[in-house]
Amino acid sequence: MSTRQSGTRVEPRTLGDAPPEQYGPLPGRIRFARLVNASPEEVAVTTSLSAGVSALASGLRFARRSKVVLTDWEFPTIGQIWHAQEARGARVTHVPAADDGTIPLEHFERVIDDDTLLVSITHVCYRNGAMLDVPKVVELAHERGALVLLDSFQAIGSLPVDVREFGVDFLGAGALKYLLGSAGLGFFYCRRDLVERVWPTQTGWFADENIFAMDHTDYSPARTAARFQSGTPPVPAIYAGIAGIELMQEIGVAATREHVNGLNAHFLAGLDDLGATVATPRAADARGALMCVRSKDSKALVAALDREGIVTSERDGNLRVSAHCYNSVEDVEAVLTGLQRHKNLLA
Ligand SMILES: Cc1ncc(COP(=O)(O)O)c(C=O)c1O
Repeated sequence: MSTRQSGTRVEPRTLGDAPPEQYGPLPGRIRFARLVNASPEEVAVTTSLSAGVSALASGLRFARRSKVVLTDWEFPTIGQIWHAQEARGARVTHVPAADDGTIPLEHFERVIDDDTLLVSITHVCYRNGAMLDVPKVVELAHERGALVLLDSFQAIGSLPVDVREFGVDFLGAGALKYLLGSAGLGFFYCRRDLVERVWPTQTGWFADENIFAMDHTDYSPARTAARFQSGTPPVPAIYAGIAGIELMQEIGVAATREHVNGLNAHFLAGLDDLGATVATPRAADARGALMCVRSKDSKALVAALDREGIVTSERDGNLRVSAHCYNSVEDVEAVLTGLQRHKNLLA
């Protein structure tokens, strides 16, 4: 890789034998790769998490193994993409959550078998904030010969994500949550040795081996994870995404995790004092940054807090409160005071 140095910035021009990607995907790939401990050759820049996962799905064959296992924690897009593959021969099976909202490893043990091609898991559940023990699921899936896709959308930027440590085969994420980026940007990681085993049929010229060959007579996907890209990349979003990633790295993702765990411990204690029902696991290593609280009318509760300048959201009857590096104990106190005022809406 040759580079041009200007001040402290390194502007990459080429990536191995790939052509220059002049519209910004390459700098995005490099920053994202660094963030998850991958190499840039293993990263595609996409317009959404869905676009990367769809490119993967389009490149899988469901012949030798036909089963795709997903969990009941998945974001709708994941379920929709895999169920769409039923038309192409995939058999989709769901791993149910337990009554307490978590997904014990035994539930995966019952479903992953020697017909399983892919296990599609979500890192942190968008509905209740619970976090999977990713390495354990990966170990089990690999023992049974299955590949693993991790949806890290609700985790990336809020806690350290290391594809080597997790051992995942594929990972998708977006830039707009804890990476402080904007909508319209996603990243997709594919482990180096798997790249050329997947032949995406959902594609575009930015997935080509040489995008400036301008060859409409042939399909030769890149020999890097760029093969999971498609058309013209979201250039403005990439630069906002790079700025967000760099800012989060400067602040420190591990330090942010520690800071937010401290805030959430304080939040939990306050919720207990209020008699609230917490839908998120209590152990810090079993949850992400998101804390969810049961509500009798979660939409009304979000609206009431919003009127008081407190921005929250709701899913599945839960109020979602998501602290990040810029939040303080005073912010948590403000939410608790707001909840005290609207105690009638807590379940
Ligand atoms: C866990 C999870 N996965 C996927 C998505 C959607 O990603 P995209 O719209 O980039 O496809 C979201 C969006 O909030 C999400 O929370």
